[in-house]
Amino acid sequence: MQAVTAGRISPDDPVAGVDVGDRPEPVAPDGWITVTVRAASLNHHDLFTLRGIGIKPERLPIVLGCDGAGIDEDGNAVVIHGVIGDPDAGGGDETLDPRRSLLSELHDGTLAERIVVPRRNVVPKPEAMSFEDAACVGTAWLTAYRMLFTRSGVQPGGSVLVQGAGGGVATAAIVLGRAAGFRVYATSRSEAKRGRALELGATAALEPGARLPERVDAVIETVGEATWSHSLKSLRPGGRIVVAGATSGPAPSAELNRVFFTQLQVIGSTMGTRGELVKLLDLCASTGIRPVIDRVLPLAQAREGLAVLASGEVFGKVVLTP
Ligand SMILES: NC(=O)c1ccc[n+]([C@@H]2O[C@H](COP(=O)([O-])OP(=O)(O)OC[C@H]3O[C@@H](n4cnc5c(N)ncnc54)[C@H](OP(=O)(O)O)[C@@H]3O)[C@@H](O)[C@H]2O)c1
Repeated sequence: MQAVTAGRISPDDPVAGVDVGDRPEPVAPDGWITVTVRAASLNHHDLFTLRGIGIKPERLPIVLGCDGAGIDEDGNAVVIHGVIGDPDAGGGDETLDPRRSLLSELHDGTLAERIVVPRRNVVPKPEAMSFEDAACVGTAWLTAYRMLFTRSGVQPGGSVLVQGAGGGVATAAIVLGRAAGFRVYATSRSEAKRGRALELGATAALEPGARLPERVDAVIETVGEATWSHSLKSLRPGGRIVVAGATSGPAPSAELNRVFFTQLQVIGSTMGTRGELVKLLDLCASTGIRPVIDRVLPLAQAREGLAVLASGEVFGKVVLTP
């Protein structure tokens, strides 16, 4: 079958480590099922893998991709949940299983014609959603859902700041936050992306570091070093910074005096549970909100898709179709 594989670690030029071509058909172990992929989407995670971040070289070659949707062995249209973990080992939450992994870390990922996953790692695709839309929700959108609705503590009528408006998690957080009735402030370095954030429903879109019209209940932070200080300053006393990524670097000053003096909470968040994915899909189906798609390319053009993701010249998700 055709697949997009991380063949080599290539820290400076991640796309150079990609192989697009034939791979052996996957074989489902007991309790796993085969899904015929109809659409898959790219994430920064794929570039991190190619750069050698979060993966050991001996795991290669491995099929890339954590997001996808397709048809299971019984002919059902399904969305793939990329978190491979045991809820029992995580106190009822598979994201807290110490042995949890994400598709394409230990097991082959979604950028292929077929994939095998544990039976519990598929959920029904809402009929009203296309395979392309459904292929975008399992990672960035699920992460934004958990950050906003499980981890931030923000109540209806509350306010959030979303840093780095162009990213996959950030665009999801803007749309989902507005669907929930939050006031959503967004920052972006690019004027064009600030305009797009407003089109998605952001209450206001500002330059990085700009003073907000109000101090917010929570910050959705995935940029890291470049925005951390502004995130801390933008919170109301007792507010929460929910962090799920550090694209610009993982080691800003912690500014502990600000954290304790204004009694801020720093909350980590990663992916989401199967149950959260089901609720996210229900929310999309009932409200009509859909992931923001930058472009759809054939699987064979995966290198082009990964290159635009690496360039930062995307707004929303890059989708590949086998
Ligand atoms: N923990 C999890 O479960 C999880 C899940 C998904 C993603 N992540 C992580 O979350 C991060 C975001 O991923 P993503 O795919 O949503 O988006 P992304 O493409 O990495 O974009 C993030 C945004 O960060 C901003 N940015 C990047 N470098 C910056 C800099 N030096 N200064 C200011 N802003 C900068 C950009 O915003 P502007 O261009 O608009 O300024 C960009 O749109 C990644 O680190 C990813 O690994 C984690």
